[in-house]
Amino acid sequence: MVSQIRFLMCAPDHYDVDYVINPWMEGNIHKSSRDRAVEQWNKLYNVIKNHAIVDLVAPEKGWPDMVFSANAGLVLGENVVLSRFLHKERQGEEPYFQQWFEQNGFNVYTLPKDLPFEGAGDALLDREGRWLWAGYGFRSELDSHPYLAKWLDIEVISLRLMDERFYHLDTCFCPLANGYLLYYPGAFDSYSNRVIEMRVAPEKRIAIEEADAVNFACNAVNVDSIVIMNKASESLKSRLAEVGFQVIETPLTEFLKAGGAAKCLTLRVTEPIGEEIHANASVESRVIRMEGHLLDAGLINRALDLIVEMGGSFQVLKFNLGEQRQSTSAAEVRVSAPSHEVMEEIISQLIDLGAVDLPQDERDTRLEPVIQAGVAPDDFYVSTIYPTEIRVNGEWLKVQNQRMDGAIAISTTANGIVAKCKLLRDLEIGDKVVVDVLGIRTVRKAESREQRNSQEFSFMSSGVSSERRVELVVEQVAWELRKIKDSGGKVVVTAGPVVIHTGGGEHLCRLVREGYVQGLLGGNAIAVHDMEQNLLGTSLGVDMKRGVAVRGGHRHHLKVINIVRRFGSIAKAVEAGVVKSGVMYECVKNNIPFSLAGSIRDDGPLPDTQMNLILAQQEYSKIIEGADMILMLSSMLHSIGVGNMTPAGVKMVCVDINPAVVTKLSDRGSIESVGVVTDVGLFLSLLTQQLDKLTSPYVANVG
Ligand code: ARG
Repeated sequence: MVSQIRFLMCAPDHYDVDYVINPWMEGNIHKSSRDRAVEQWNKLYNVIKNHAIVDLVAPEKGWPDMVFSANAGLVLGENVVLSRFLHKERQGEEPYFQQWFEQNGFNVYTLPKDLPFEGAGDALLDREGRWLWAGYGFRSELDSHPYLAKWLDIEVISLRLMDERFYHLDTCFCPLANGYLLYYPGAFDSYSNRVIEMRVAPEKRIAIEEADAVNFACNAVNVDSIVIMNKASESLKSRLAEVGFQVIETPLTEFLKAGGAAKCLTLRVTEPIGEEIHANASVESRVIRMEGHLLDAGLINRALDLIVEMGGSFQVLKFNLGEQRQSTSAAEVRVSAPSHEVMEEIISQLIDLGAVDLPQDERDTRLEPVIQAGVAPDDFYVSTIYPTEIRVNGEWLKVQNQRMDGAIAISTTANGIVAKCKLLRDLEIGDKVVVDVLGIRTVRKAESREQRNSQEFSFMSSGVSSERRVELVVEQVAWELRKIKDSGGKVVVTAGPVVIHTGGGEHLCRLVREGYVQGLLGGNAIAVHDMEQNLLGTSLGVDMKRGVAVRGGHRHHLKVINIVRRFGSIAKAVEAGVVKSGVMYECVKNNIPFSLAGSIRDDGPLPDTQMNLILAQQEYSKIIEGADMILMLSSMLHSIGVGNMTPAGVKMVCVDINPAVVTKLSDRGSIESVGVVTDVGLFLSLLTQQLDKLTSPYVANVG
């Protein structure tokens, strides 16, 4: 018996692949056979007619994709939201579909101009009528979803499509009767997959493999227990059979060439309304403002890219382009996200780029008390390296101790309210911690193209390493070192044992001796190898002059540790005249503070090595305080530790032979950090040579 379910179809009289607006159409222009298309379409039409009523809309010449009636609009009850096609190639179909809907008694809603939404191709009702699944990412805009919720009075669940082969939701997602769901998880981002898993119980989810997905197995028409599709693997058919569905295959290869199959060729126009069901769109929007050299500094592209990458969408409401080179631009952007959770992630990154609220939208920051010492409230805002301000009682307050990976806590002191970045472990009961992403802004200096190019550290923005680049970095670092020394500034060096193995020890000694270094950070190893070299001439048992292993040399480092342990500290070993040269010697002699942070693999350790890592972190951060520049020399862990404690604005130079380490360390999203891939011994040698050049009187070379 034929049920009262109705579908709308459009005969393929004018069907062809005439243009390319999805990956399936590529290479298929005019490659489909009209005769075969007609034959396949008729078969589908007849199969559906066996199970439901089929209405027809007249095909129109010049609109070859009109066969895909799923894209006419989205129907629920008497109401229909008409499609607004993204591509002009299909926009001409809109009035024909609109006419059909109006003539058939539907109440037609039309979206604002420039807000793409491609109908039932991108919006699928749960077959129990509980909610609407709506896709975005390729053809439909996230901002169309709240309209669907409002006009159709139904909860909308937004899903983000990630794979351009599955550009419409109905190409990879098919709700079935009894709460089942046929879908291809690979087409969605991880957040959407999580949302799907939260809504659909595991035993109701039928996740398919790519092989079925590319045969458009999800692009199926479901009428009760029948599922009509182009093609399904045996395993998929039996899985569906197990849960009571019968697959009817009907070949639609000619339509696959245009990126569509069974479901795309139909639009279900009888969609019952659930009585108890009401609107509830979780899509959130917020307007942000950015100002500065938005184009020159690439800020606006970065902002818009990250909104999309993180699963949101945007609309640029205003953009005032600075007219002159030195003038700044300003933009107002409406950001939308499928949930508050995603919105928070997006906004916290936009804050780093300098985004602020419109003045009329400014709010106080949200605070929640610490109720367990050392534990922040769940939703705490994670601090960054950028100078940050928070709004408390209508006033903007500068955050102190700026560093990344902390929480911002406020406390009331005799001098009023104070905001500070605190490590989680330092949070105390009664501290109020910033949560959510309201009333937070970072203060960015507007840097123009000129400023950036004239800055000493401008080379940093370019990629990593090349021969010339090493020289350039050396020249610039030498110049900086000299300037900082002359102005009484502070340079801190983080060094690993490789500095010694590669023969860089003597050069680092010179830097310390000549006043270029104001603090040294490392671990047990650098100190041991440095002293081993100076006491016994080897580093990890290798003769440093000849480069060959010394018999029994592997015990050298333990002997050195033992000697220092006898004296009680490195300083005492130096005073006793046992350690007579080397990096540690120079530090002691020149009163340069150092901190050695221990690790599980340390031999000994030396008496100076701080094996309590919490204390070691504290020692490190003390030495870093007020630094103008940090030289990170071949020590990944210690350098990462240092990077985490250091606010933006401190120049960082990272030297390592391993490009991955350099990238990791120099990628702080700020232009003050630079990485160079080279041998650290060579780097130090070039650096001292360059400093010699800078400090020796100029001699004209008259030939
Ligand atoms: N060539 C059409 C397009 O790219 C195919 C549409 C398929 N329709 C669908 N509901 N997935 O727009």
